[in-house]
Amino acid sequence: MISKAGLGSRTEALAWIHARRVQVNGKIIENPDHWVSFGKDKVLFDGKPLQTKERIYLLLYKPAGYITSYGDPEGRPTVYDLISAVETFVSPVGRLDLETSGLLLLTNDTQLAERLTNPLHKVPKTYLVKCSSLLTDESLEALRTGVELSDGPTLPAQVKRLRDSEKYTHLEITIHEGRNRQVRRMIEAVGSKVLKLVRVKLGPLTLDGLAIGKWRNLTEAELSALREERKKPATPSGTSGQASGSPRWRR
Ligand code: URA
Repeated sequence: MISKAGLGSRTEALAWIHARRVQVNGKIIENPDHWVSFGKDKVLFDGKPLQTKERIYLLLYKPAGYITSYGDPEGRPTVYDLISAVETFVSPVGRLDLETSGLLLLTNDTQLAERLTNPLHKVPKTYLVKCSSLLTDESLEALRTGVELSDGPTLPAQVKRLRDSEKYTHLEITIHEGRNRQVRRMIEAVGSKVLKLVRVKLGPLTLDGLAIGKWRNLTEAELSALREERKKPATPSGTSGQASGSPRWRR
Protein backbone atom coordinates (compact mmCIF):
# COMPACT_ATOMS: atom_id res chain seq x y z
CA MET A 1 0.00 0.00 0.00
CA ILE A 2 2.92 2.35 0.66
CA SER A 3 4.43 1.71 -2.74
CA LYS A 4 1.00 1.95 -4.42
CA ALA A 5 0.62 5.41 -2.88
CA GLY A 6 3.87 6.39 -4.57
CA LEU A 7 5.68 6.85 -1.25
CA GLY A 8 8.58 4.57 -1.98
CA SER A 9 9.49 1.47 -3.93
CA ARG A 10 8.01 -1.86 -2.88
CA THR A 11 11.45 -2.92 -1.60
CA GLU A 12 11.73 0.23 0.50
CA ALA A 13 8.20 -0.23 1.85
CA LEU A 14 8.94 -3.84 2.84
CA ALA A 15 12.10 -2.73 4.64
CA TRP A 16 10.20 -0.01 6.54
CA ILE A 17 7.48 -2.44 7.63
CA HIS A 18 10.08 -5.02 8.61
CA ALA A 19 11.84 -2.33 10.69
CA ARG A 20 8.48 -1.66 12.44
CA ARG A 21 8.47 1.98 11.32
CA VAL A 22 4.90 2.03 10.01
CA GLN A 23 1.78 2.39 12.19
CA VAL A 24 -1.82 2.22 11.09
CA ASN A 25 -4.46 3.58 13.48
CA GLY A 26 -2.03 3.41 16.38
CA LYS A 27 -0.73 -0.13 15.72
CA ILE A 28 2.61 -1.12 14.21
CA ILE A 29 1.89 -3.20 11.12
CA GLU A 30 3.82 -6.33 10.27
CA ASN A 31 1.95 -7.53 7.23
CA PRO A 32 3.22 -5.86 4.03
CA ASP A 33 -0.17 -6.51 2.37
CA HIS A 34 -2.07 -4.73 5.13
CA TRP A 35 -4.75 -2.75 3.31
CA VAL A 36 -4.99 0.95 4.07
CA SER A 37 -7.63 3.40 3.04
CA PHE A 38 -5.85 6.72 2.59
CA GLY A 39 -7.92 9.56 3.95
CA LYS A 40 -9.69 7.21 6.40
CA ASP A 41 -6.92 5.33 8.20
CA LYS A 42 -4.28 7.19 10.15
CA VAL A 43 -0.87 6.14 8.86
CA LEU A 44 2.30 7.16 10.70
CA PHE A 45 5.86 6.67 9.53
CA ASP A 46 8.47 7.01 12.31
CA GLY A 47 5.61 8.45 14.37
CA LYS A 48 4.83 11.20 11.86
CA PRO A 49 1.90 11.41 9.45
CA LEU A 50 2.73 9.91 6.07
CA GLN A 51 2.51 12.45 3.26
CA THR A 52 1.66 11.36 -0.25
CA LYS A 53 4.48 12.67 -2.38
CA GLU A 54 3.85 14.73 -5.46
CA ARG A 55 3.84 12.58 -8.58
CA ILE A 56 6.81 13.14 -10.85
CA TYR A 57 7.42 11.92 -14.39
CA LEU A 58 10.87 12.03 -15.95
CA LEU A 59 11.93 11.36 -19.48
CA LEU A 60 15.55 10.19 -19.69
CA TYR A 61 17.64 9.66 -22.82
CA LYS A 62 19.54 6.63 -21.58
CA PRO A 63 22.95 6.09 -23.14
CA ALA A 64 24.25 2.57 -23.84
CA GLY A 65 26.37 1.21 -20.99
CA TYR A 66 23.95 2.09 -18.15
CA ILE A 67 21.82 -0.54 -16.45
CA THR A 68 18.16 0.02 -15.74
CA SER A 69 18.16 -0.87 -12.07
CA TYR A 70 18.90 0.62 -8.70
CA GLY A 71 22.44 -0.41 -7.81
CA ASP A 72 24.52 -3.05 -9.49
CA PRO A 73 26.57 -5.74 -7.72
CA GLU A 74 29.14 -5.43 -10.54
CA GLY A 75 29.42 -1.68 -9.97
CA ARG A 76 28.35 -0.68 -13.48
CA PRO A 77 26.78 2.76 -13.98
CA THR A 78 23.01 2.82 -13.56
CA VAL A 79 20.29 5.14 -14.83
CA TYR A 80 20.07 6.52 -11.27
CA ASP A 81 23.57 8.00 -11.71
CA LEU A 82 22.06 10.15 -14.47
CA ILE A 83 19.21 11.49 -12.32
CA SER A 84 21.14 11.97 -9.07
CA ALA A 85 19.72 15.49 -8.70
CA VAL A 86 16.19 14.06 -8.36
CA GLU A 87 15.29 13.75 -4.69
CA THR A 88 12.11 11.69 -5.06
CA PHE A 89 12.47 7.96 -5.64
CA VAL A 90 11.25 7.06 -9.12
CA SER A 91 11.10 3.68 -10.82
CA PRO A 92 11.64 2.94 -14.49
CA VAL A 93 8.57 2.09 -16.55
CA GLY A 94 9.87 -1.04 -18.25
CA ARG A 95 13.54 -1.62 -18.90
CA LEU A 96 16.16 -1.02 -21.53
CA ASP A 97 19.05 -3.48 -21.84
CA LEU A 98 22.56 -2.41 -20.89
CA GLU A 99 23.51 -1.80 -24.52
CA THR A 100 20.19 -0.25 -25.58
CA SER A 101 19.93 3.53 -25.57
CA GLY A 102 16.92 5.79 -25.82
CA LEU A 103 13.73 6.82 -24.14
CA LEU A 104 13.16 5.72 -20.56
CA LEU A 105 10.25 6.99 -18.49
CA LEU A 106 10.74 7.08 -14.71
CA THR A 107 8.00 7.90 -12.21
CA ASN A 108 6.72 7.42 -8.67
CA ASP A 109 3.18 7.01 -10.07
CA THR A 110 3.03 3.25 -9.69
CA GLN A 111 -0.53 3.02 -11.01
CA LEU A 112 0.35 4.71 -14.28
CA ALA A 113 3.51 2.61 -14.54
CA GLU A 114 1.61 -0.63 -13.99
CA ARG A 115 -0.94 0.33 -16.57
CA LEU A 116 1.68 1.29 -19.17
CA THR A 117 3.62 -1.94 -18.71
CA ASN A 118 0.56 -4.21 -18.64
CA PRO A 119 0.82 -6.32 -21.82
CA LEU A 120 -2.96 -6.13 -22.27
CA HIS A 121 -2.69 -2.41 -23.03
CA LYS A 122 -0.20 -2.96 -25.86
CA VAL A 123 1.43 0.45 -25.55
CA PRO A 124 3.49 0.93 -28.75
CA LYS A 125 7.26 1.23 -28.43
CA THR A 126 9.34 2.27 -31.41
CA TYR A 127 13.00 1.35 -31.92
CA LEU A 128 15.68 2.15 -34.47
CA VAL A 129 17.68 -0.97 -35.21
CA LYS A 130 20.97 -1.52 -36.98
CA CYS A 131 21.16 -5.17 -38.03
CA SER A 132 24.42 -7.05 -38.54
CA SER A 133 23.45 -8.15 -42.07
CA LEU A 134 21.14 -7.29 -44.95
CA LEU A 135 17.59 -8.47 -44.32
CA THR A 136 15.34 -9.68 -47.12
CA ASP A 137 11.79 -8.43 -47.65
CA GLU A 138 10.65 -11.89 -46.57
CA SER A 139 12.41 -11.46 -43.20
CA LEU A 140 10.80 -8.07 -42.72
CA GLU A 141 7.41 -9.58 -43.47
CA ALA A 142 8.10 -12.31 -40.89
CA LEU A 143 8.91 -9.64 -38.29
CA ARG A 144 5.64 -7.89 -39.15
CA THR A 145 3.52 -11.01 -38.95
CA GLY A 146 5.11 -12.55 -35.88
CA VAL A 147 8.15 -14.69 -35.20
CA GLU A 148 8.32 -17.58 -32.78
CA LEU A 149 10.38 -16.80 -29.67
CA SER A 150 11.19 -19.16 -26.80
CA ASP A 151 8.36 -17.53 -24.79
CA GLY A 152 5.82 -17.67 -27.61
CA PRO A 153 5.06 -15.93 -30.91
CA THR A 154 5.33 -12.17 -31.18
CA LEU A 155 2.31 -10.00 -31.93
CA PRO A 156 2.17 -8.19 -35.27
CA ALA A 157 4.68 -5.34 -35.44
CA GLN A 158 5.18 -2.37 -37.74
CA VAL A 159 8.47 -2.66 -39.55
CA LYS A 160 9.95 -0.09 -41.92
CA ARG A 161 13.19 -0.49 -43.86
CA LEU A 162 14.96 2.83 -43.37
CA ARG A 163 18.03 2.09 -45.47
CA ASP A 164 20.47 -0.59 -46.50
CA SER A 165 24.17 0.08 -46.52
CA GLU A 166 26.56 -2.34 -48.17
CA LYS A 167 26.41 -4.76 -45.23
CA TYR A 168 23.71 -3.60 -42.83
CA THR A 169 19.96 -3.06 -42.79
CA HIS A 170 18.58 -0.20 -40.70
CA LEU A 171 14.99 -0.65 -39.53
CA GLU A 172 12.33 1.12 -37.55
CA ILE A 173 10.29 -1.39 -35.54
CA THR A 174 7.21 -0.71 -33.44
CA ILE A 175 6.18 -3.46 -31.06
CA HIS A 176 3.22 -3.60 -28.71
CA GLU A 177 4.72 -5.87 -26.08
CA GLY A 178 7.69 -5.47 -23.76
CA ARG A 179 9.24 -8.89 -23.37
CA ASN A 180 12.80 -9.34 -22.22
CA ARG A 181 15.28 -8.47 -25.03
CA GLN A 182 12.39 -8.74 -27.43
CA VAL A 183 13.73 -6.76 -30.39
CA ARG A 184 17.12 -8.45 -30.19
CA ARG A 185 15.49 -11.87 -30.13
CA MET A 186 13.17 -10.98 -33.02
CA ILE A 187 16.14 -9.96 -35.17
CA GLU A 188 17.99 -13.14 -34.19
CA ALA A 189 14.89 -15.14 -35.12
CA VAL A 190 15.33 -13.99 -38.73
CA GLY A 191 19.01 -14.89 -38.76
CA SER A 192 20.69 -11.55 -37.99
CA LYS A 193 21.88 -9.71 -34.89
CA VAL A 194 21.29 -6.27 -33.43
CA LEU A 195 24.36 -4.04 -33.59
CA LYS A 196 22.62 -0.93 -32.29
CA LEU A 197 19.23 -0.41 -30.66
CA VAL A 198 17.64 2.91 -29.73
CA ARG A 199 14.13 3.38 -28.35
CA VAL A 200 12.77 6.56 -29.90
CA LYS A 201 9.10 6.44 -28.84
CA LEU A 202 6.94 5.16 -26.01
CA GLY A 203 3.24 5.67 -26.70
CA PRO A 204 2.92 9.42 -27.38
CA LEU A 205 6.37 10.28 -25.95
CA THR A 206 9.41 11.00 -28.11
CA LEU A 207 13.04 11.92 -27.49
CA ASP A 208 12.73 15.15 -29.46
CA GLY A 209 14.96 17.90 -28.11
CA LEU A 210 16.62 15.77 -25.43
CA ALA A 211 20.39 15.22 -25.50
CA ILE A 212 21.81 11.80 -24.71
CA GLY A 213 22.34 11.27 -20.97
CA LYS A 214 19.92 14.12 -20.10
CA TRP A 215 16.46 14.09 -18.58
CA ARG A 216 13.53 16.45 -18.26
CA ASN A 217 10.09 16.49 -16.68
CA LEU A 218 7.15 15.54 -18.86
CA THR A 219 5.07 18.48 -20.02
CA GLU A 220 1.38 18.70 -19.07
CA ALA A 221 0.48 17.90 -22.69
CA GLU A 222 2.66 14.77 -22.66
CA LEU A 223 1.15 13.68 -19.37
CA SER A 224 -2.40 14.07 -20.67
CA ALA A 225 -1.49 12.14 -23.82
CA LEU A 226 0.01 9.40 -21.68
CA ARG A 227 -3.12 9.25 -19.52
CA GLU A 228 -5.21 8.88 -22.69
CA GLU A 229 -2.94 6.02 -23.75
CA ARG A 230 -3.54 4.45 -20.38
CA LYS A 231 -7.30 4.69 -20.84
CA LYS A 232 -7.32 2.84 -24.16
CA PRO A 233 -9.22 -0.41 -23.72
CA ALA A 234 -7.18 -3.48 -22.95
CA THR A 235 -7.34 -6.27 -25.49
CA PRO A 236 -6.73 -9.86 -24.47
CA SER A 237 -3.47 -11.24 -25.84
CA GLY A 238 -3.90 -13.94 -28.45
CA THR A 239 -6.41 -11.82 -30.40
CA SER A 240 -3.64 -10.10 -32.24
CA GLY A 241 -4.77 -10.74 -35.78
CA GLN A 242 -1.88 -13.13 -36.37
CA ALA A 243 -2.08 -14.06 -40.03
CA SER A 244 -2.71 -17.77 -40.32
CA GLY A 245 -0.61 -19.93 -42.59
CA SER A 246 2.30 -17.51 -42.62
CA PRO A 247 5.75 -18.86 -41.87
CA ARG A 248 7.10 -18.53 -38.34
CA TRP A 249 10.75 -17.78 -37.71
CA ARG A 250 12.04 -19.31 -34.53
CA ARG A 251 14.42 -18.05 -31.84
N1 URA B 1 14.14 -4.93 -26.98
C1 URA B 1 15.39 -5.34 -26.69
O1 URA B 1 15.87 -6.31 -27.24
N2 URA B 1 16.09 -4.62 -25.80
C2 URA B 1 15.62 -3.52 -25.19
O2 URA B 1 16.32 -2.89 -24.40
C3 URA B 1 14.32 -3.12 -25.50
C4 URA B 1 13.59 -3.85 -26.39
